Amino acid sequence: MNRAYFLGAGPGDPDLLTLRAARLLADCAVVYAPTPFEETFAAHLEHKTVLVPFNYYFRELLDLVDLQLESGSVAFLVPGDLTFYSPFQSLVDALGDRAVVVPGVGTANAAAAHLKKTLDLPAVCNRAILASPRTLGDTPGAPTMGELAAPGVTLLIYMNNIPLPELAAQLRTGYGRSVPIAILHRLGLPGEEVVQGTLDDIVGKVGDRDFFNLAGPDRRPALTLVLVGESLAAVTDGRWWDHRREHIWKLRGAE
Ligand SMILES: C[S@@+](CC[C@H](N)C(=O)[O-])C[C@H]1O[C@@H](n2cnc3c(N)ncnc32)[C@H](O)[C@@H]1O
Repeated sequence: MNRAYFLGAGPGDPDLLTLRAARLLADCAVVYAPTPFEETFAAHLEHKTVLVPFNYYFRELLDLVDLQLESGSVAFLVPGDLTFYSPFQSLVDALGDRAVVVPGVGTANAAAAHLKKTLDLPAVCNRAILASPRTLGDTPGAPTMGELAAPGVTLLIYMNNIPLPELAAQLRTGYGRSVPIAILHRLGLPGEEVVQGTLDDIVGKVGDRDFFNLAGPDRRPALTLVLVGESLAAVTDGRWWDHRREHIWKLRGAE
């Protein structure tokens, strides 16, 4: 049976494609690639039919994929991967057994790698929360970003639509003090910019750069991820390593 492969494509750099995804992509003559993947993956898309999935209404797209599956397998390049905030769930569900999901490098993973920080550091951070102000809702009682922010939390904010001064103020209330923040714009894509600071100085450091597409006519969520929390700047020594060596690893026979 021909398949529709939903390939976790990573944040945009084709070097982050898994070997499995690269192999499956090479086998598909039809590829759905959201912008800007048709550019960054150009070398992998030569001689293929490349379509933008968001140019179609759902039923139209499903009918087209049905037709294409009669002649061969079809690939979807999934930004990051399907785990968080992927718009492809309805297609995966509708295609049922014909859909195959291949994991990839999520933007969260690429951000942690860029910062060279684990986001859950013992004694510094005891939980990480992924959230987007776009999906929290604005009904009375809906949680705010400020309510999710708290000491010990690393917060990953997708698709932010709150102006930065307001966001920083909300987060500062939640954390109760200024903590590190990183704004990671277009990771792995042309135009990549990363600004690191604290809740107190980030607004000045960003200046008039519109990292969240809030000023212009393009209201689509920007390719910008925000990370906040003590773990971003924490430096750890070898004590936890030795603690684990003594109490966990050694007992399992690691010598
Ligand atoms: C619809 S969500 C898709 C997330 C994706 N499924 C993932 O695994 O990363 C889109 C949001 O992900 C983040 N994002 C996606 N690609 C990014 C990139 N290359 N650089 C920074 N943030 C990115 C941004 O917050 C953007 O608004």
